[in-house]
Amino acid sequence: MARKFFVGGNWKCNGTAEEVKKIVNTLNEAQVPSQDVVEVVVSPPYVFLPLVKSTLRSDFHVAAQNCWVKKGGAFTGEVSAEMLVNLDIPWVILGHSERRALLNETNEFVGEKVAYALAQGLKVIACVGETLEQRESGSTMDVVAAQTKAIADKVTNWSNVVVAYEPVWAIGTGKVASPAQAQEVHDELRKWLAKNVSADVAATTRIIYGGSVNGGNCKELGGQADVDGFLVGGASLKAEFIDIIKAAEVKKSA
Ligand code: PGA
Repeated sequence: MARKFFVGGNWKCNGTAEEVKKIVNTLNEAQVPSQDVVEVVVSPPYVFLPLVKSTLRSDFHVAAQNCWVKKGGAFTGEVSAEMLVNLDIPWVILGHSERRALLNETNEFVGEKVAYALAQGLKVIACVGETLEQRESGSTMDVVAAQTKAIADKVTNWSNVVVAYEPVWAIGTGKVASPAQAQEVHDELRKWLAKNVSADVAATTRIIYGGSVNGGNCKELGGQADVDGFLVGGASLKAEFIDIIKAAEVKKSA
Protein backbone atom coordinates (compact mmCIF):
# COMPACT_ATOMS: atom_id res chain seq x y z
CA MET A 1 0.00 0.00 0.00
CA ALA A 2 1.38 3.37 -1.00
CA ARG A 3 1.84 5.91 1.74
CA LYS A 4 -0.33 8.95 1.05
CA PHE A 5 1.59 12.23 1.16
CA PHE A 6 0.81 14.15 4.36
CA VAL A 7 1.18 17.89 4.90
CA GLY A 8 0.57 19.31 8.36
CA GLY A 9 0.56 22.99 9.27
CA ASN A 10 1.58 23.68 12.86
CA TRP A 11 0.45 27.21 13.65
CA LYS A 12 1.99 27.02 17.13
CA CYS A 13 1.01 29.85 19.51
CA ASN A 14 0.22 32.39 16.79
CA GLY A 15 -2.72 34.34 15.45
CA THR A 16 -5.72 36.45 16.27
CA ALA A 17 -9.27 35.49 15.28
CA GLU A 18 -8.94 37.87 12.30
CA GLU A 19 -5.66 36.36 11.18
CA VAL A 20 -7.05 32.86 11.55
CA LYS A 21 -10.03 33.75 9.34
CA LYS A 22 -7.64 35.09 6.70
CA ILE A 23 -5.54 31.93 6.67
CA VAL A 24 -8.66 29.79 6.42
CA ASN A 25 -9.90 31.91 3.49
CA THR A 26 -6.61 31.49 1.69
CA LEU A 27 -6.71 27.72 2.22
CA ASN A 28 -10.35 27.49 1.17
CA GLU A 29 -9.65 29.25 -2.13
CA ALA A 30 -6.54 27.23 -2.99
CA GLN A 31 -6.31 24.80 -5.87
CA VAL A 32 -4.53 21.75 -4.51
CA PRO A 33 -4.17 18.08 -5.50
CA SER A 34 -7.07 15.87 -4.48
CA GLN A 35 -7.42 13.95 -1.24
CA ASP A 36 -6.24 10.78 -3.01
CA VAL A 37 -2.87 12.46 -3.49
CA VAL A 38 -2.38 14.45 -0.31
CA GLU A 39 -3.79 14.56 3.21
CA VAL A 40 -3.79 18.09 4.64
CA VAL A 41 -4.12 18.83 8.35
CA VAL A 42 -3.79 22.23 10.03
CA SER A 43 -3.19 22.76 13.70
CA PRO A 44 -4.37 26.04 15.20
CA PRO A 45 -4.11 26.88 18.90
CA TYR A 46 -6.85 25.20 20.99
CA VAL A 47 -8.99 28.32 21.29
CA PHE A 48 -9.35 28.60 17.52
CA LEU A 49 -10.10 24.92 16.86
CA PRO A 50 -13.92 25.31 16.74
CA LEU A 51 -13.63 28.36 14.47
CA VAL A 52 -11.25 26.63 12.08
CA LYS A 53 -13.17 23.35 12.18
CA SER A 54 -16.43 25.10 11.25
CA THR A 55 -15.02 27.29 8.47
CA LEU A 56 -12.29 25.19 6.84
CA ARG A 57 -12.98 23.30 3.59
CA SER A 58 -14.06 19.72 4.25
CA ASP A 59 -11.14 18.07 2.44
CA PHE A 60 -8.68 19.57 4.96
CA HIS A 61 -8.65 18.42 8.57
CA VAL A 62 -7.70 19.89 11.92
CA ALA A 63 -5.32 18.85 14.68
CA ALA A 64 -4.79 20.02 18.23
CA GLN A 65 -1.19 20.81 19.19
CA ASN A 66 -1.25 18.73 22.37
CA CYS A 67 -3.56 16.95 24.79
CA TRP A 68 -3.46 15.61 28.33
CA VAL A 69 -1.87 12.24 29.04
CA LYS A 70 -4.98 10.61 30.50
CA LYS A 71 -8.64 11.14 31.27
CA GLY A 72 -9.56 14.70 32.15
CA GLY A 73 -10.20 15.86 35.69
CA ALA A 74 -8.33 18.07 38.13
CA PHE A 75 -5.60 19.15 35.69
CA THR A 76 -5.87 22.91 35.49
CA GLY A 77 -4.95 24.32 32.11
CA GLU A 78 -5.01 21.00 30.28
CA VAL A 79 -7.26 19.79 27.47
CA SER A 80 -8.15 16.10 27.34
CA ALA A 81 -8.23 13.72 24.39
CA GLU A 82 -11.92 13.12 25.21
CA MET A 83 -12.67 16.81 24.67
CA LEU A 84 -11.02 16.76 21.26
CA VAL A 85 -13.05 13.69 20.33
CA ASN A 86 -16.19 15.42 21.63
CA LEU A 87 -15.51 18.37 19.29
CA ASP A 88 -14.76 16.03 16.36
CA ILE A 89 -11.13 17.07 16.16
CA PRO A 90 -9.56 14.05 14.43
CA TRP A 91 -5.84 14.71 14.92
CA VAL A 92 -3.39 15.75 17.64
CA ILE A 93 0.31 16.63 17.48
CA LEU A 94 2.21 15.07 20.40
CA GLY A 95 5.82 15.29 21.55
CA HIS A 96 6.72 18.43 19.64
CA SER A 97 10.29 19.44 20.52
CA GLU A 98 9.11 22.78 21.91
CA ARG A 99 7.06 20.88 24.49
CA ARG A 100 9.84 18.39 25.15
CA ALA A 101 12.38 21.18 25.69
CA LEU A 102 10.34 23.97 27.28
CA LEU A 103 7.83 21.89 29.24
CA ASN A 104 10.11 18.98 30.09
CA GLU A 105 8.04 16.31 28.39
CA THR A 106 10.04 13.09 28.61
CA ASN A 107 10.11 10.27 26.06
CA GLU A 108 7.98 8.12 28.39
CA PHE A 109 5.43 10.87 28.96
CA VAL A 110 5.11 11.40 25.20
CA GLY A 111 4.75 7.64 24.70
CA GLU A 112 1.93 7.53 27.25
CA LYS A 113 0.22 10.49 25.62
CA VAL A 114 0.38 8.89 22.18
CA ALA A 115 -1.08 5.63 23.49
CA TYR A 116 -3.86 7.37 25.41
CA ALA A 117 -4.84 9.64 22.50
CA LEU A 118 -4.93 6.68 20.09
CA ALA A 119 -7.05 4.70 22.55
CA GLN A 120 -9.61 7.53 22.54
CA GLY A 121 -9.78 7.37 18.75
CA LEU A 122 -7.55 10.31 17.84
CA LYS A 123 -4.96 10.15 15.09
CA VAL A 124 -1.52 11.26 16.20
CA ILE A 125 1.37 13.17 14.63
CA ALA A 126 4.17 12.01 16.92
CA CYS A 127 7.30 14.18 16.78
CA VAL A 128 10.89 13.06 17.24
CA GLY A 129 14.21 14.72 16.53
CA GLU A 130 17.70 15.49 17.79
CA THR A 131 19.30 18.73 18.97
CA LEU A 132 22.34 20.22 17.24
CA GLU A 133 24.56 19.05 20.09
CA GLN A 134 23.26 15.50 19.72
CA ARG A 135 23.78 15.56 15.95
CA GLU A 136 27.31 16.87 16.30
CA SER A 137 28.17 14.20 18.84
CA GLY A 138 26.96 11.53 16.40
CA SER A 139 23.98 10.38 18.47
CA THR A 140 21.15 11.39 16.12
CA MET A 141 19.91 7.87 15.51
CA ASP A 142 20.22 6.84 19.18
CA VAL A 143 18.13 9.83 20.24
CA VAL A 144 15.49 9.34 17.56
CA ALA A 145 15.35 5.58 18.24
CA ALA A 146 14.89 6.15 22.00
CA GLN A 147 12.08 8.64 21.34
CA THR A 148 10.42 6.20 18.93
CA LYS A 149 10.92 3.25 21.28
CA ALA A 150 9.10 5.05 24.10
CA ILE A 151 6.12 5.28 21.72
CA ALA A 152 6.50 1.73 20.37
CA ASP A 153 6.59 0.36 23.93
CA LYS A 154 3.02 1.56 24.48
CA VAL A 155 1.45 1.42 21.03
CA THR A 156 0.33 -1.71 19.22
CA ASN A 157 -1.70 -0.30 16.36
CA TRP A 158 0.28 2.16 14.24
CA SER A 159 -2.36 2.74 11.57
CA ASN A 160 -3.35 6.13 13.06
CA VAL A 161 0.19 7.33 13.69
CA VAL A 162 2.25 9.66 11.52
CA VAL A 163 5.85 10.08 12.69
CA ALA A 164 7.30 13.58 12.24
CA TYR A 165 11.09 13.70 12.13
CA GLU A 166 11.95 17.24 13.14
CA PRO A 167 15.60 17.98 13.86
CA VAL A 168 15.50 20.63 16.60
CA TRP A 169 18.31 22.62 14.95
CA ALA A 170 16.16 23.03 11.83
CA ILE A 171 12.99 24.23 13.56
CA GLY A 172 12.32 27.92 13.08
CA THR A 173 15.96 28.55 12.23
CA GLY A 174 15.85 28.72 8.45
CA LYS A 175 18.51 25.96 8.55
CA VAL A 176 16.68 23.17 6.75
CA ALA A 177 18.09 19.63 6.74
CA SER A 178 19.50 18.78 3.34
CA PRO A 179 17.41 16.28 1.39
CA ALA A 180 20.18 13.71 1.98
CA GLN A 181 20.22 14.37 5.73
CA ALA A 182 16.46 14.01 5.94
CA GLN A 183 16.40 10.88 3.78
CA GLU A 184 19.14 9.27 5.88
CA VAL A 185 17.23 9.61 9.14
CA HIS A 186 13.88 8.67 7.57
CA ASP A 187 15.45 5.55 6.11
CA GLU A 188 17.03 4.66 9.46
CA LEU A 189 13.74 5.27 11.25
CA ARG A 190 11.92 3.01 8.81
CA LYS A 191 14.54 0.31 9.35
CA TRP A 192 14.13 0.76 13.10
CA LEU A 193 10.37 0.22 12.75
CA ALA A 194 10.95 -2.86 10.59
CA LYS A 195 13.27 -4.38 13.16
CA ASN A 196 11.45 -3.37 16.33
CA VAL A 197 7.81 -3.21 15.34
CA SER A 198 7.07 -4.99 12.06
CA ALA A 199 7.82 -4.94 8.35
CA ASP A 200 4.23 -3.93 7.67
CA VAL A 201 4.30 -0.97 10.07
CA ALA A 202 7.63 0.13 8.56
CA ALA A 203 6.22 -0.05 5.04
CA THR A 204 2.94 1.74 5.76
CA THR A 205 3.72 4.37 8.42
CA ARG A 206 4.18 7.86 7.08
CA ILE A 207 7.40 9.54 8.20
CA ILE A 208 7.18 13.27 7.53
CA TYR A 209 9.91 15.88 7.80
CA GLY A 210 9.70 19.15 9.75
CA GLY A 211 12.10 22.03 10.23
CA SER A 212 12.25 25.16 8.02
CA VAL A 213 10.27 23.60 5.19
CA ASN A 214 9.24 26.29 2.71
CA GLY A 215 7.95 26.77 -0.80
CA GLY A 216 11.48 26.66 -2.19
CA ASN A 217 12.84 23.51 -0.58
CA CYS A 218 9.72 21.32 -0.37
CA LYS A 219 9.92 19.63 -3.76
CA GLU A 220 13.43 18.32 -3.37
CA LEU A 221 12.76 17.16 0.19
CA GLY A 222 9.46 15.58 -0.82
CA GLY A 223 11.17 13.75 -3.66
CA GLN A 224 13.23 11.67 -1.23
CA ALA A 225 12.08 8.06 -1.13
CA ASP A 226 11.33 7.94 2.60
CA VAL A 227 10.00 11.47 3.05
CA ASP A 228 6.21 11.08 3.08
CA GLY A 229 5.32 14.71 3.64
CA PHE A 230 5.93 17.59 6.02
CA LEU A 231 5.10 19.23 9.30
CA VAL A 232 5.36 22.94 8.57
CA GLY A 233 5.62 25.70 11.17
CA GLY A 234 6.36 29.25 10.03
CA ALA A 235 5.45 28.73 6.37
CA SER A 236 2.07 27.23 7.31
CA LEU A 237 0.90 30.72 8.28
CA LYS A 238 1.59 32.01 4.78
CA ALA A 239 0.16 31.47 1.30
CA GLU A 240 3.35 29.53 0.58
CA PHE A 241 1.76 26.60 2.46
CA ILE A 242 -0.24 25.96 -0.72
CA ASP A 243 2.99 25.37 -2.67
CA ILE A 244 4.09 22.94 0.03
CA ILE A 245 0.82 21.02 -0.31
CA LYS A 246 1.38 20.88 -4.06
CA ALA A 247 4.79 19.29 -3.50
CA ALA A 248 2.78 16.06 -3.09
CA GLU A 249 2.79 15.95 -6.89
CA VAL A 250 6.45 14.92 -6.86
CA LYS A 251 5.40 11.46 -5.68
CA LYS A 252 2.97 11.01 -8.55
CA SER A 253 5.71 11.33 -11.11
CA ALA A 254 8.17 9.30 -9.04
P1 PGA B 1 9.28 25.51 11.20
O1 PGA B 1 8.61 24.63 12.36
O2 PGA B 1 8.69 25.06 9.90
O3 PGA B 1 8.88 26.93 11.55
O4 PGA B 1 10.74 25.28 11.26
C1 PGA B 1 8.33 23.26 12.17
C2 PGA B 1 7.68 22.68 13.40
O5 PGA B 1 8.05 23.04 14.52
O6 PGA B 1 6.77 21.82 13.29
